[in-house]
Amino acid sequence: MAESMLGLKRTARCGEFSVNDIGKEVTVMGWVQKSRNKGGLVFTDLRDRSGILQIIFEEDVCGSEVFAKAGTLKNEYCIAVKGNIRSRGKDANTELATGAIEVEAKELRILSESAVLPFQIEADTNTREELRLQYRYLDLRRPPLQKNIFLRHKLCIAVRNYMDEQGFLEIETPTFIKSTPEGARDYLVPSRVHQGEFYALPQSPQLLKQLLMCSGFDRYFQLARCYRDEDLRADRQPEFTQIDMELSFADVDDVIAVNEGLIKRIWKEVLGVDIELPIERMTWQTAMDKYGSDKPDLRFDLPITDISDVVKDCEFSVFADTIKNGGYVRAICVPGEGHMPRKKIDALVDVAKYYGGKGLAYLCVNCGENGEHKCSFAKFMKPEELEAIIKACGAKEGDLIVIAADKFTKVCQVLGNVRLELGKTLGLIDQGAWRFLWITEFPLLEWSEEENRFMAMHHPFTSPMEEDWEYIDSDPGRVRAKAYDIVLNGTELGGGSVRIHRADIQEKMLEVLGFTPEKAQSQFGFLLEAFKYGVPPHAGLAYGLDRVAMWMAGADSIRDVMAFPKIKDASDLMMGAPSVVDKQQLIDLAIKVDEDIINKNKEK
Ligand code: AMO
Ligand code: AMP
Repeated sequence: MAESMLGLKRTARCGEFSVNDIGKEVTVMGWVQKSRNKGGLVFTDLRDRSGILQIIFEEDVCGSEVFAKAGTLKNEYCIAVKGNIRSRGKDANTELATGAIEVEAKELRILSESAVLPFQIEADTNTREELRLQYRYLDLRRPPLQKNIFLRHKLCIAVRNYMDEQGFLEIETPTFIKSTPEGARDYLVPSRVHQGEFYALPQSPQLLKQLLMCSGFDRYFQLARCYRDEDLRADRQPEFTQIDMELSFADVDDVIAVNEGLIKRIWKEVLGVDIELPIERMTWQTAMDKYGSDKPDLRFDLPITDISDVVKDCEFSVFADTIKNGGYVRAICVPGEGHMPRKKIDALVDVAKYYGGKGLAYLCVNCGENGEHKCSFAKFMKPEELEAIIKACGAKEGDLIVIAADKFTKVCQVLGNVRLELGKTLGLIDQGAWRFLWITEFPLLEWSEEENRFMAMHHPFTSPMEEDWEYIDSDPGRVRAKAYDIVLNGTELGGGSVRIHRADIQEKMLEVLGFTPEKAQSQFGFLLEAFKYGVPPHAGLAYGLDRVAMWMAGADSIRDVMAFPKIKDASDLMMGAPSVVDKQQLIDLAIKVDEDIINKNKEK
């Protein structure tokens, strides 16, 4: 039966006691990690967020009534104990921070009992994630998750302190807004007052922070909740948090300077790690050419080499035709892997195909039985052409060369992912490294095959580089943007840009993106209007806070650093959200749910 804590006051948390407290009378409260009766003694491990403290019940000391009650303790009962701290002497447990002491109990109250648990509360668990998420409040009692949530808290405080010192004002922006053109699908909230109309939840506070610059706040930041209806994966959730910032009178270097300071500060404060500045910068073009990715993992090398020039006239039609059609032939040389078993090479070919490649050619330098090359396309090539490839790749005897031929985007995607696979499977990744990288000079526009038009690579308010603007009509794809991403170990931590503040450039940009003046007006007329009244030049950046915390915690997924995350299909297993709502609520909103469509989709 549950008892009251009346008259008891907790002295400190379990993990906060030490040998200095020996002899003191204390009151502790927490959860029973485990309790066992050992021949007239009951030993109870009491746990709270600070750690574990051993409680010992001896009948002579606590009396028969308390002793009998101690015998009924089960895992996760929430209890209060009053007693004296004493030394464990030679029985000290060196595995436990408080292992040199224990509480000799005099009084025990069972504050609440626990039903049989769906899974045990322990650091290592085999319990499947769905069950743990259904009982997330129990899962969160596990020490690794408690540690992650503490770390996240520390991170948020460190960010706030740094931003404050740098003159940034923390300003909240609303979550019921008008749809912003950020690229993903919006989550919508129906209005009861304006039936048939909807708010959108912000994909980011992008336009609002730009308006704050118009208002003269100069430096803004926010730990902002963002909502995006997109396909989820380990580093994507439907709602997530950004460390969002915007600066007036700032260009690329100003944003980078503030953010290098931020990164250095939070890594030092949260992890005690010194990050060396400046952080390396690489243009988007170099990153794509050399690593096949706009977020290259530089914890290992394996660069890509373009061999288009070397093979453009060869007989192998896969190579020659690709180049004729404007594509590229590119290679990765993997030192010392020429004897890689066929099965492993086939696995690489599968990776290439998974990412849309038509194949992956390979050449194992002098790895045949008689020292000849082993090569998947040898029959189409003259010996000197193979030698030219080997030379261009800087390969030597015993090396493996893998080659892909395709259009630019595809060849990058294929080799970028083959490179990552090689890094993983060959154990090339330095797991302790923090490889930060700025990617700069992104293309302003990206061609969409689907929509048959140019789209903004970042968003429509991103400033072009002055020196490229002259090509906006003749060769829009060539125009680079003042946009940048901050990458860590192959993950995009954050991104941002200098914004357009000139009306003529903004108008042209919207025209290129296919916005009619009316459509632009209806979607973000308020921003265009605001820009008429003395808009300062401004720039900004946003990090995925969850991703930063994930890397800091060494977690595999951002779910592990969020208190109540959602699963892949965007549902919350604990609350059972989303859910069907009351009929009257729908009537109030003038919303009719199409049961036919729902049933049809359920059958699928
Ligand atoms: P962007 O869209 O690049 O930029 O987002 C910034 C950062 O937010 C994180 N992020 C996510 N994290 C978890 N789950 C998601 N679904 C998710 N989507 C994005 C990423 C990403 O780098 N307004 C601009 C920023 C600016 O220009 O200032 C923006 O939102 O880490
Ligand atoms: P095939 O003549 O189809 O047997 O191809 C010979 C070799 O070229 C095989 O190793 C294929 O995997 C490879 N190959 C086919 N298409 C491509 C491509 N687009 N890029 C690179 N290699 C390819």
